Amino acid sequence: MSDRSSLAVILAAGEGTRMRSQRPKVMHPVGGLPMLGHVLAAATRAGIGRFALVTGSGAEAVGGFARKSAPGADIFEQRERLGTAHAVLAARSALAEQADDVLVLYGDTPLVTPETLERMRAELAKGAAVVVLGFRPAVPTGYGRLIEQDGRLVAIREERDASEAERQIGFCNAGLMAFRGESVLPLLDAIGNHNAKGEYYLTDAVEIANAQALPVVAIEAEADEVLGVNTRAELAAVEAIWQTRARQAAMLSGVTMLAPHTVYLSHDTLIERDVTIEQNVVFGPGVRIEEGAIIHAFSHVEGARIERGATVGPFARLRPGAALGPQAKVGNFVEVKNAEIGAGAKVSHLTYIGDAKVGAEANIGAGTITCNYDGFDKALTVIGEGAFIGSNSALVAPVTIGDGAYVGSGSVITEDVAPDALAIGRGRQVEKPGWAARFRAMKALTKRTRV
Ligand code: UD1
Ligand code: CA
Repeated sequence: MSDRSSLAVILAAGEGTRMRSQRPKVMHPVGGLPMLGHVLAAATRAGIGRFALVTGSGAEAVGGFARKSAPGADIFEQRERLGTAHAVLAARSALAEQADDVLVLYGDTPLVTPETLERMRAELAKGAAVVVLGFRPAVPTGYGRLIEQDGRLVAIREERDASEAERQIGFCNAGLMAFRGESVLPLLDAIGNHNAKGEYYLTDAVEIANAQALPVVAIEAEADEVLGVNTRAELAAVEAIWQTRARQAAMLSGVTMLAPHTVYLSHDTLIERDVTIEQNVVFGPGVRIEEGAIIHAFSHVEGARIERGATVGPFARLRPGAALGPQAKVGNFVEVKNAEIGAGAKVSHLTYIGDAKVGAEANIGAGTITCNYDGFDKALTVIGEGAFIGSNSALVAPVTIGDGAYVGSGSVITEDVAPDALAIGRGRQVEKPGWAARFRAMKALTKRTRV
């Protein structure tokens, strides 16, 4: 990575009227992370050292998120929307603190890769004063067109200012640009607003740089990478591309997916090699899965750690704080929340384990419920190593089942159970010989006499 100093100015104003949302546009998530977070992550991976964020008015949530995920970022507010150059200039004091490379990025263009940002920086290192990221959209309408002469980028013409001939150009401005640090302020300060929109266009920096004989280049990115989000439909399109990428990366790192297009990942999903993920599995944030684990079909997993060789599902739900030890098994229609399931323990069917510690090799029978909540507080259930909980038992927390203890099926356990003891908490079975036959005979008789 280059040792050049760098600053990224991220335009995060996007008021997002077309999103029809209370939430600032750049805070809408992709892969569970606000779009702005993706841009910050890509820039960080491209070695960007300093961030300046330009928000619109009333975007406290944006500033709050940035302060958390990029501590040290300078946050600026663009009070009036006078154009993209005006927006970048809102970060004037950050620009004045010189950096070798200055990148202008967009908070609503979250799919840009670190590699592309590195390519832009490489052009600056080779001597360019301005680098423009171009792409070839299927339909160029609405984008600024890149006007090249003799292999040089001489101007960017906005759609409304373009001639008929210029509109035929298919090579368009993605919006992202990079500047030689010492040139950025003089170039931006020279930009006027004499155009169809009466705005200060960042793109005018290209013509101004050319007039000063500064080298300007355009490099090309895949159209997918520079998709901007203006509507929820575009958000969904970006999500789909992001998911495809994330699945691809997981598979290339050694994860088996039987139907990758039905698996939904989060930005922070960590899956080690030789994990198998079956069809229709959804991962919320905070999941880590170790080698050799299997996630069977139709499982929903969030905030969970799944250790080596453990198996989950089909139809399992792991909620935040679920931690499955090596070779543990959580089977169908089982919900686990804030609970450790020890190595080799089995919770195979129709069970709720919440706020609990289940020891290694314990066996939890079908239909077991940890009654962890009294309507006010949560309480802990501890199940010892090798304990056996008979089917359809209710364990009323706080309660401890000792190592190696047995709980008889259908028990309601309210008191602690000693290690290796048997606890039965249910009505004793009574048997009345011949009762059923007598009952039927009596019923038959009364029915006949009633007629
Ligand atoms: C801009 C480019 C255009 C490019 C297109 C790619 C300019 C003049 N034009 O056009 O060449 O093809 O992006 O999508 O740069 N913004 C502010 N403050 C402002 C104005 C804009 O923060 O005062 C932000 C917007 O929120 C948005 C971005 O800058 O995130 C682009 O602005 P927008 O008005 O959408 O520019 P386009 O017309 O799309
Ligand atoms: Ca736009």
